[in-house]
Amino acid sequence: MIENIEELRKEATQFNLSNLDECEKFRIYFLGSKGKLKDLFSLLKEVPADKKKEMGLALNSLKIELENIYQNANNIQNKDISQDNEIDWSRPGKKINLGSRHPIEIVKNEIISIFEGIGYSISDGPEIEDDFHNFTALNFPTNHPARDMQDTFFIEKGVNELALRTHTSSVQVRVMENTTPPIRTISPGRVYRNEAISARAHCFFHQIEGLYIDKEVSFADLKQNLLYFVQRFFGPKATIRLRPSYFPFTEPSAEVDVSCTICDAKGCNVCKNTGWLEILGCGMVDPNVLINCGINPEEYSGFAFGMGVERLTQLKYKVNDLRLYSENDIRFLSQFKSVI
Ligand code: PHE
Repeated sequence: MIENIEELRKEATQFNLSNLDECEKFRIYFLGSKGKLKDLFSLLKEVPADKKKEMGLALNSLKIELENIYQNANNIQNKDISQDNEIDWSRPGKKINLGSRHPIEIVKNEIISIFEGIGYSISDGPEIEDDFHNFTALNFPTNHPARDMQDTFFIEKGVNELALRTHTSSVQVRVMENTTPPIRTISPGRVYRNEAISARAHCFFHQIEGLYIDKEVSFADLKQNLLYFVQRFFGPKATIRLRPSYFPFTEPSAEVDVSCTICDAKGCNVCKNTGWLEILGCGMVDPNVLINCGINPEEYSGFAFGMGVERLTQLKYKVNDLRLYSENDIRFLSQFKSVI
């Protein structure tokens, strides 16, 4: 019996314990429920009574020894593994692909920051509008073609007529209703028109409309504000020209052209050889609109203007197809990087 114990001890000390698999083999072979140690313990009953105690003690100390060998080896191997898992600070990092801002968002933010710089606040309003805020308050005659199904996405017809706003002038009505002048605000936002989608037209786009109401606001103020904006946006060489136009909510009204930034006003296919690019509509707020919004036109006057963000983005980045803005093509979008 004692020889068996010694033999097992020898075998255990020579066992290769260089990885966790070997440790597990060791445990099963020596300490497992069908292991070598168990076999030796079962031999105890054949040992003569006077030797039993001695053999029992020897077997127990072997058991403790084997358990220690196993435990130590196992600890060492586990430690090695955890060392392997420790962070290697010298390894190159994983590349994280940063997203980029949408070009419309970049240009919108740029326009906003220019107007903020000259004291305009920003106002927001709902995209689903009632007839009063989108049309009636803005002096649209009942049968004006802009109310027609072709231009407007109606949600609910009838007494509580609801539609997707066709311009952000509706936000300006809400501001005028709730504010005593002076008012100096811009309303950026998405607008909807019922048009067939093509390279040059879309059923939704983005506008930034401005409104300035105070005592003695004149057309010259309007012109100077717009010139300031255009020169900040397109550069100091840019000039503007105003052409008479018509909007129900402004009188007089004008369309504003900027000197073509692409060909330096020499004539190219973007400006159709005219040297000018149309960028916005504007005018003095019609007294009827002021009255509809609870502002006394005898006391106050004001101007309004509205521009399409897509149009300005198209000029800035020379994007000729409007559809690209909403197709989510990553090859298109990843070309635009900006901090604002
Ligand atoms: N609301 C007009 C449009 O959507 C733009 C505009 C705003 C024109 C303010 C004049 C004054 O086309």
